[in-house]
Amino acid sequence: MSYLNDPQALAKYWRGFDHVTWYCGNAKQSAVFHIARMGFRPIARKQMQVGKNRTLTHEVIRNGNVTFEFVSPVRSSQKMSDASLENGVPVEEMVKLKEVLQFVEKHGDGVKDISWDVPNATDAWIAVTQNGAHTVMKPVSQSDEHGKVVMATVATFGDVTHTFVQRDEYKGTFLPGYQSIEQDDPLNQVLNPVEFAAIDHTVANQNWGEMDKVCDYYQNVFGFHQFISDDDYNVVTQYSALKSTVMASGNNVIKMPINEPAKGIRKSQIEEYLAYNNGPGIQHIALLTKDIMSCVTEMRRRGVKFIDVPDTYYEDLEQRMRDSKVTIKEDLQMIKKLNILVDFNAEGYLLQLFVKDHASNRPTVFYEIIQREGAQGFGGGNFRSLFEAIEREQAKRGNLL
Ligand SMILES: [Fe+2]
Repeated sequence: MSYLNDPQALAKYWRGFDHVTWYCGNAKQSAVFHIARMGFRPIARKQMQVGKNRTLTHEVIRNGNVTFEFVSPVRSSQKMSDASLENGVPVEEMVKLKEVLQFVEKHGDGVKDISWDVPNATDAWIAVTQNGAHTVMKPVSQSDEHGKVVMATVATFGDVTHTFVQRDEYKGTFLPGYQSIEQDDPLNQVLNPVEFAAIDHTVANQNWGEMDKVCDYYQNVFGFHQFISDDDYNVVTQYSALKSTVMASGNNVIKMPINEPAKGIRKSQIEEYLAYNNGPGIQHIALLTKDIMSCVTEMRRRGVKFIDVPDTYYEDLEQRMRDSKVTIKEDLQMIKKLNILVDFNAEGYLLQLFVKDHASNRPTVFYEIIQREGAQGFGGGNFRSLFEAIEREQAKRGNLL
């Protein structure tokens, strides 16, 4: 039986984002960065112990329903000078170690896997492999004293994968084999909280001319459909030199805009990403919050820099607001002071802002903070001012040629 081109048949398999797995050079420091700057708290880890975890270390942090796992190598893939330390490292762990080392060498710190919460990982895996997905990990059941988790992983674009996580029978903090961390980081005791609710969307950059192919893959394999919003993509293309199609699961619980570079007024920011990421990958993760004003205020206090929005943006905004029926409950002067972007349509409005500094040392992956008040778009009306601002940063790096 095939599920090809039948979005509703596959919609029942997807319940939302589960967690994001990063491969990086220093998992400990990546975790601390997100704790200090973005108010995450440490929840679990898997680290070197007698007879286990002798190749990789894992740090897991959470804020609301946003869970990130950072994975880093703790040794070289070459033989160690002290042969006694080589004993008992399983071959499959060495294979995984090489995968992480190669990923970090090729892409720098970046998103390796976006996992989805599913009611049944085996059924989901059977369906998507029938639709042509390449298997990275067949369904595997893991358990500990807190219960059982079943997971399966399939490939998508570039080196990125999707893992299906079936955790209804699991009561532990993260996954079997991880040690829970009960105590919050002391920094969070002395700073005000930054509160995220969930991952809103994750965005992928593709090579020139590859967007449609990847969208077809999401449609044919995962049963996703094109999510139509009234964002003005003609403006997007002219100013940002990118094309974007939003793909969403049949029930819209998972949204993944897919970008590719386009010819525009200036060099595309997507080209810069592709050069430094060495191919396609995850461009940004949008974190949903119920209160962007306090989120942005506190993140700024914690040292996060957001893109600079020109004053002219707010003059345009006041004019646009006067012509619209939408009422914004937040104070416009405060929105301007915090440099927050506003977009609206007949459904309502959204507030959003983009972090200026990339999460990696390379100009690749970054964060967006978003609050939705009815509007289901992605800020198309903001793209002109947004991308002008991003391009000013690109120019400072000498990459806007
Ligand atoms: Fe976004």
